[in-house]
Amino acid sequence: MVAGRYFPPLFSVAPMMEWTDHHYRTLARLISKHAWLYTEMLAAETIVYQEHDLDRFLAFSPEQHPIVLQIGGSNLENLAKATELANAYSYDEINFNCGCPSPRVAGHGCFGVRLMLDPKFVGEAMSVIAAKTNAPVSVKCRIGVDDHDSYNELCDFIYKVSSLSPTRHFIIHSRKALLNGISPADNRRVPPLKYEYFYGLLRDFPDLKFTINGGINSIDEVNAALLEGAHGVMVGRAAYNNPWQTLAYVDSAVYGVPSSGVTRRQVLKEYEVYGEAVLGIYGKKPTVRDVAKPLLGLFHSEPGNGLWKRRADAAFMHCTTMKSFFEETLDAIPDSVLDAPLAEAPSRSENPFANIRDVLPPPYKEREQEVLYA
Ligand SMILES: Cc1cc2nc3c(=O)[nH]c(=O)nc-3n(C[C@H](O)[C@H](O)[C@H](O)COP(=O)(O)O)c2cc1C
Repeated sequence: MVAGRYFPPLFSVAPMMEWTDHHYRTLARLISKHAWLYTEMLAAETIVYQEHDLDRFLAFSPEQHPIVLQIGGSNLENLAKATELANAYSYDEINFNCGCPSPRVAGHGCFGVRLMLDPKFVGEAMSVIAAKTNAPVSVKCRIGVDDHDSYNELCDFIYKVSSLSPTRHFIIHSRKALLNGISPADNRRVPPLKYEYFYGLLRDFPDLKFTINGGINSIDEVNAALLEGAHGVMVGRAAYNNPWQTLAYVDSAVYGVPSSGVTRRQVLKEYEVYGEAVLGIYGKKPTVRDVAKPLLGLFHSEPGNGLWKRRADAAFMHCTTMKSFFEETLDAIPDSVLDAPLAEAPSRSENPFANIRDVLPPPYKEREQEVLYA
């Protein structure tokens, strides 16, 4: 992969376990045609051991392109085999998880963010992954782990991985991870965001591509990050908890193409068709609750939102079709909301990147030493 010719997505929705499943991605694609969508992280072992049931884990409908498969693992053989097995599904990029702090992953499984402490292994892993696919490959990582949180250590990681493998694109969740037992949710909230590390990487590795991630909550902030030079912006929780206000602006405000002008009523109509088609395809699963879960953020801060969620909770107890679910719940939302075209994007409150160039860390200088001791 040649970085000069490769451009990472301007906007992507982050990989989120139990959130960015096929249902959520279907909803996201109905709202934005251009956002890149990531799968949940899939352990290489899951792919390898489920070789005969792969569709369940890897299949997606063609509209979900462009879509990135995120894999996790620490066994080179399984990473290679998993990548090979995924080829049949034609993902647009393969991403390797070096950022997950969950004890299940970083502790027992010894992968995820713990791998940032072993850049040589990550370089090898990326080489075997890249050797098994024609798709571009990328790494998603944090800016550090525990006390290994200096800018130089982050640069060492990026330098070694990119020198030892064809990796040219890094997605940087711009806070470190703490492996002292705090919950994964706290690990996405407690360590402070250090966007200056991200912009330091842009300055110090001009041949690589970087996507910024962490705490970016609006389209204005996405565009502000791009204006400051980020090659791409990845949004996680805001795109899940408030999909309309986040994703409906992506095509026009980020990609500069006319928005589809779709309303939420139209989105739900199409989603209903999707939902009816997938309910129960795996025996009792998925249920109406599973399929409707990504919809619960669609009316974030709109009139009727609280009532709609309460009705949804009640409806989950007995509804067996999407049609009956909508019949029982949608009355809570006024027509003026359901049929409203997309409003103007809310204007910028504060640009978190405005003075970032004034606070960049000192330039990375250790390269030659690193070459000697790598
Ligand atoms: C419920 C949930 C699950 C997540 N699962 C993953 C995952 O599977 N792989 C990964 O790299 N990051 C995962 N993350 C982290 C996100 O990809 C993202 O880096 C993080 O939420 C910061 O971005 P945000 O502030 O825009 O949400 C998860 C986050 C959440 C909220």
